[in-house]
Amino acid sequence: MKILVTGAAGFIGSNLAEKLAKRGDNVVGLDNFNDYYDPAKKRSNAARLAAYPNFRMVEQDIRQRETMIELFASEKFEAVAHLAAMAGVRNAVQYPDLYVEVNLNGTQNLLDAARAAGTLKNFVMASTSSVYGNTTQIPFVETDPCDRPLQPYAAAKRAAEILGHAYHHLYGLNFTAVRFFTVYGPNGRPDMMAYLVAESVAKGIQIPLYDNGEMYRDWTYVDDITDGVVLALDKPLGYEIINLGRGKPTLLKDFVNLIETLGGRPANVFHRPRLAADFVKNEADISKARRLLGYNPQISVEEGVRRFWAWYETAVLHRSA
Ligand SMILES: NC(=O)c1ccc[n+]([C@@H]2O[C@H](COP(=O)([O-])OP(=O)(O)OC[C@H]3O[C@@H](n4cnc5c(N)ncnc54)[C@H](O)[C@@H]3O)[C@@H](O)[C@H]2O)c1
Repeated sequence: MKILVTGAAGFIGSNLAEKLAKRGDNVVGLDNFNDYYDPAKKRSNAARLAAYPNFRMVEQDIRQRETMIELFASEKFEAVAHLAAMAGVRNAVQYPDLYVEVNLNGTQNLLDAARAAGTLKNFVMASTSSVYGNTTQIPFVETDPCDRPLQPYAAAKRAAEILGHAYHHLYGLNFTAVRFFTVYGPNGRPDMMAYLVAESVAKGIQIPLYDNGEMYRDWTYVDDITDGVVLALDKPLGYEIINLGRGKPTLLKDFVNLIETLGGRPANVFHRPRLAADFVKNEADISKARRLLGYNPQISVEEGVRRFWAWYETAVLHRSA
């Protein structure tokens, strides 16, 4: 299948593109290599992907509407995995305009490009558990209205999900929004907790620990997430929204403790109260993913953290030593 992966130089996008290239798909990656975090990490992900003859990277920005329309017209994609986004929740509070431009208007450009090309069988968009805001319905279930986001990142993602419905309704586009829950693993984002804790344990760097680590997160290993995206790509469903998590939340302080045990040292934390943009608990109800996609996450938090730490030691720590 000819597949466009947007955000292919990023954390989850590069893991997904590699999985698709390995199974023999014809994969085009797209990324603007922005500097939200060190672009060298994205270049290194792209270099890993360049080893696959059936992978090609296009350096472009999804905000360039005409360029997206031309790309879709010439490449005739059969499926899109749309992962390109401004992803940091706290950063969104500072730059709401950027988050709306990229995460909502950029998505609209891709939807219009897909509609104009007329070749697409399926459009899968990465959404987020953040859309649940501070709902009282726990575990988070897709039937929740999700109309009370806590910050602009969640608001823009939710708006993009809803926009997908309009394109499905008007033009018959198959559109699935997959809501990811706290993803971690090799090539992880350096602004996310798993990576920050690893840096703190290994190098003594001081990091904030919010709410004494007393918040639950449904940590989901990146391989389970990319398996879920591949299942969604392979199964056009009309219009659906589907949670992809592990369904077994862990306290942040226990997650930190797992990394400390592997590293043999405590993290160097300073305590901060919970931020208004954060929720206390996120927990995925994954029964819909199991039922519609056959999704079945495999990696326990203990095993996932062990694999993450092994990657961090070899790919980050020993390389920078
Ligand atoms: N990591 C998580 O826990 C998590 C949780 C929920 C949802 N998500 C979603 O999953 C997707 C991937 O997230 P990630 O953690 O891999 O983040 P990431 O920042 O590593 O990847 C996103 C990629 O998109 C690219 N990008 C950003 N703006 C772009 C633009 N205008 N044009 C082209 N490319 C652009 C970035 O350069 C980056 O490489 C995002 O849509 C994010 O919102 C992630």
